[in-house]
Amino acid sequence: MTSLSDIDLSAIPTHVAIIMDGNGRWAKERGEPRHVGHTAGEAALFDVIEGALAVGLPWMTIYAFSTENWKRPLAEVKFIMNFNRDLLKRRGDELHERNVRVRFIGRRVFPIPRGLIAIMNDIEARTRDNTGMTLQIAFNYGGRAEIVDALQAIVAKVANGELDPSKVRERTLKDHLYAPDAPDVDLLVRSSGEHRTSNFLIWQAAYAELVFDDTLWPDWRREHLWHALSVFQQRSRRFGGLNG
Ligand code: IPE
Ligand code: IPE
Ligand code: MG
Repeated sequence: MTSLSDIDLSAIPTHVAIIMDGNGRWAKERGEPRHVGHTAGEAALFDVIEGALAVGLPWMTIYAFSTENWKRPLAEVKFIMNFNRDLLKRRGDELHERNVRVRFIGRRVFPIPRGLIAIMNDIEARTRDNTGMTLQIAFNYGGRAEIVDALQAIVAKVANGELDPSKVRERTLKDHLYAPDAPDVDLLVRSSGEHRTSNFLIWQAAYAELVFDDTLWPDWRREHLWHALSVFQQRSRRFGGLNG
């Protein structure tokens, strides 16, 4: 087990993104329906948040529901919507008390239920001025959708003469992402042994270090995050240059 003493606390990355995967398989292993795995994922998430706070991580983004997850059976999608609404209702105060600034990235529109959108807006407004970790929850999020949405906004500005198309830069696109102030992802972690990024933060994670962990998400605890951080700290990042 990785402990805090295995991590260099002076070299914590700025932004860690986590693909919380393996809930369904965790439930299946126990002969339970898939939703039992989603429910069990809550304890994992809140322990990982404590682990992130303990090391002073400034930004964490978690993948909670993708634009592709609507393909799942309606019963599972409905469960996930209700579960997230209840979770945010039950635990919003706790996140606020922990000084966490909660944000949501993704398309915050139908078919997400109105009641859930209202709670997302409320928790975001309530925690806006918190100065601890920024926790971004990617919900109805897709990296391609995000780039399309940014492009739509840019094209609209070009069409009304607000933006000269010859002035479009990487920076222009970044400025139109869901959270333009969010720093690039330094470390992208995925649980459950899958080795892919499934449309998560494709712009922001262009130079992220990738760490894959075999543990299914509901079994994750803060030590798994710390382990990923210790692996990250062994890596040499070059960003296309020669130093590192
Ligand atoms: C991640 O676990 C949660 C969501 C995608 C909502 P999965 O539900 O994908 O679990 P597996 O990958 O089927 O085990
Ligand atoms: C990615 O996991 C999305 C979330 C964790 C919310 P999936 O389970 O949906 O990804 P694939 O289908 O295995 O690529
Ligand atoms: Mg999965």
